[in-house]
Amino acid sequence: MKIQGVRALEILDSRGNPTVQAEVGLSDGTRAKAQVPSGASTGRHEAPELRDGDPLRYGGKGVRQAVRNVDELLGPLVQGMDASNQSAVDNRMLENGGSNRFGANAVLAVSCAVARAAAASLRLPLWRYLAAGRDCHVPVPMVNIISGGLHAGRNLEFQDFLVIPTGYPSVADGLEAVAGVRRETGRLLLEQGCVLTGVADEGGWGPRLNSNEEAVSSLREAIERTAAKMDIALDVASTHFYTDGAYMLEGQTLDAAGMGDLLETWLDRYGVTSIEDALAEDDWDGWTALTRRLGSKVKLVGDDLFTTDPDRLDRGIREGAANSVLVKMNQIGTLTQTFEVVAKARAAGYGVVVSARSGETEDSFLADLAVACAADHIKIGSITRSERLAKYNRLLEIERFEISA
Ligand code: PGA
Ligand code: ZN
Repeated sequence: MKIQGVRALEILDSRGNPTVQAEVGLSDGTRAKAQVPSGASTGRHEAPELRDGDPLRYGGKGVRQAVRNVDELLGPLVQGMDASNQSAVDNRMLENGGSNRFGANAVLAVSCAVARAAAASLRLPLWRYLAAGRDCHVPVPMVNIISGGLHAGRNLEFQDFLVIPTGYPSVADGLEAVAGVRRETGRLLLEQGCVLTGVADEGGWGPRLNSNEEAVSSLREAIERTAAKMDIALDVASTHFYTDGAYMLEGQTLDAAGMGDLLETWLDRYGVTSIEDALAEDDWDGWTALTRRLGSKVKLVGDDLFTTDPDRLDRGIREGAANSVLVKMNQIGTLTQTFEVVAKARAAGYGVVVSARSGETEDSFLADLAVACAADHIKIGSITRSERLAKYNRLLEIERFEISA
């Protein structure tokens, strides 16, 4: 199953920004595509996306150079290689400069398209191919209901207010309950006289509220009203309101301990069981102290903290920072490195949350990846907008038709 050729295309993502699609052709005639996502609240330590920077096209966000890199450099580099040897393909791209040279958007598109082509050629569902014999399960979704931060015009400082359906026999049943909570939250926010400012980047409500706590309490009330069984998860994305060693929150200046005080009071009051990026991406000491304090009671998920980087995760494990890792393929650039991070997390007893980006495409690769990693959770955004639904619907399909088969 040799790679015969790779071609790329500049396509648009869910925010109308350009992104990269790569298409791989194999010697047996198999063809497969993959499309890469793009973040808005990106961490400083992420693998670099290559953007053209030409202000006359898409405000500088064009990806023609990344596309050329696939067509003219990465394609020839992997041509003739065995598509089923993912690590050899990824390592060849890394050894020749990786994301720093070609752009993470170019490298990841090729990495994922190669995997999909290999799976198709072997006539295996993608998740089963990716799992390579390891145990799999369909993860419980962590679903965005209210958005703030950079995804909703900075109406609130905190970025995501999410629900985790608990105690439902299937993802299908869980999502049904989540849909009820989403509807009820909208109704409740309107009752409170809240201006619902359209749909946020990930499909959640983007309300103008007076405080972050109001968002959490509204969410809890909507859950109670629908009698759903839901925990609450937060993505604080705190790096974006952290300046000069302080968290600038609702007119107050908090240190890391102050953030911990605030969040701790919410755990029991609102049933918060998971908090992502409670502290900033380089506040290592704060993270270690917070994990010592709250780590036994709540999932502390590192997103900007780890940026899916095996080395940063190693440091976190050594220093006792966080107890779960958010996994976003385009933060690191290849599938092989992504699996390396998942394996490290597992070995250290860290939880794994596989996550989409705020700028997404109709590619459903993420659903298969999350199943293949046996992730604890998958975080895709809300249950509206088809770039989100492509993944939820794929999960439903895997759950119903593929995983028990
Ligand atoms: P991003 O947001 O894709 O804009 O980085 C997702 C997240 O922070 O989890
Ligand atoms: Zn995040």
